Amino acid sequence: MTTAIASAYPASVAASAPVTDTAPIHIAAHGIAVEFSLNGRRQRVLHDINLSVPKGSFVSLIGPSGCGKSTLLKVMAGLVQPVEGTVTVAGLAPQEAARRRMIGLVFQDATLLPWKNAVENAAFLLMTGNTNVKRADAMARAAEMLRLVGLEGANDKMPSQLSGGMRQRVAIARALALDPEVLLMDEPFGALDAITREEMSQCLLDIWERTGKTIVLVTHSIDESVFLSREVHVMGTGPARIIETLPITLPHPRTEESFADPAFTRAEARLRSLLIESHRTRGTGK
Ligand SMILES: Nc1ncnc2c1ncn2[C@@H]1O[C@H](COP(=O)(O)OP(=O)(O)OP(=O)(O)O)[C@@H](O)[C@H]1O
Ligand SMILES: [Mg+2]
Repeated sequence: MTTAIASAYPASVAASAPVTDTAPIHIAAHGIAVEFSLNGRRQRVLHDINLSVPKGSFVSLIGPSGCGKSTLLKVMAGLVQPVEGTVTVAGLAPQEAARRRMIGLVFQDATLLPWKNAVENAAFLLMTGNTNVKRADAMARAAEMLRLVGLEGANDKMPSQLSGGMRQRVAIARALALDPEVLLMDEPFGALDAITREEMSQCLLDIWERTGKTIVLVTHSIDESVFLSREVHVMGTGPARIIETLPITLPHPRTEESFADPAFTRAEARLRSLLIESHRTRGTGK
C-alpha cells in the first residue's frame, strides 16, 4: 500500500485558499484544435485553445451547449487526440498521466456497477489493473473516501438503493480513491435537483480545500462556476475557442454568505453577459 493510500485526506490541508498565484502550471494547453468527421466531412470543433491551470487551482469551463467543453475535457484526459497543438498534465502527455493514474474523471452519469455495493464501486478503479493493491486496503481506502463525500453508513447500499446525488458522491469517491492529482468533472451535478446540487457544490468545495487537488469543472451553472472556481473560462462557438478567462476574486472560505458578496454579483453579471453574447453569435463564426 502506498503512503498516499494509507494517509487520509486530513481536514483542512489547505483550508481557505489552497493555491497561490505562484503555483506551477499543472495543465497546459497550447493552440489546441480538434476535428471530427461527420458524414465524411471534417468538422473543426475546437480552434486555438490556450489554457493554463495552476496546480491546486479550481477552474470551470462554461459555454453554450455543443461548443466543445466536453471535448476539451476529453483532450485533457487523453481521450481525444488534438489535430493541432499540445497539452500536458504535470508535464506529461495526458495519456501517460492517465496511465499513471494521475487523472480522475467524473461524468454527469455516475455509471456505477449495479451488482456492486457503494464501497465496492468506490474501490473498483483502485483494484482494476493494479495488482499491488490488496482488496482489504482498497476497501478501507474506498470507505474513507465515502466518508469524505458524506456517505458514511452507506457502504453496503446497492446503487439502486441510492439517490442520484448519493450515486454521484460514490462516483466522486471512486475518482478520489485513486488519489489523482487532477480531477476532471463534466457536469457532475447536471441531473440533480437544485438543493442537492448546492449540497454537492459545498461537498466538492470542502474536498478541494482538504485535498488541494487541481480541479477542472464543466458546468452550465453560472452560480456554481462562480461559487467554486478561482477562474472561469468562457467558451464561444463556431468553432469553439475561449472568449474570456474571468478571475473570481470572491474571498475564501466560501460559504452561503458568498452568494451575497459584491464580488459574486459582479462575476455572475459578467458571465451572464458573456454567455448571452456567446449564444447570440453561435454558429456565425464571429
Ligand atoms: N465523437 C464525436 N464525433 C463527431 N462529432 C462529435 C464527437 N464528439 C463531439 N462531437 C461534436 O463536437 C461538438 C462539441 O461537442 P461537445 O460534447 O464537446 O460539446 P459540449 O460543449 O460539451 O456540449 P453540452 O453542453 O451539450 O454537453 C458538437 O458539435 C458535437 O456534435
Ligand atoms: Mg458536454
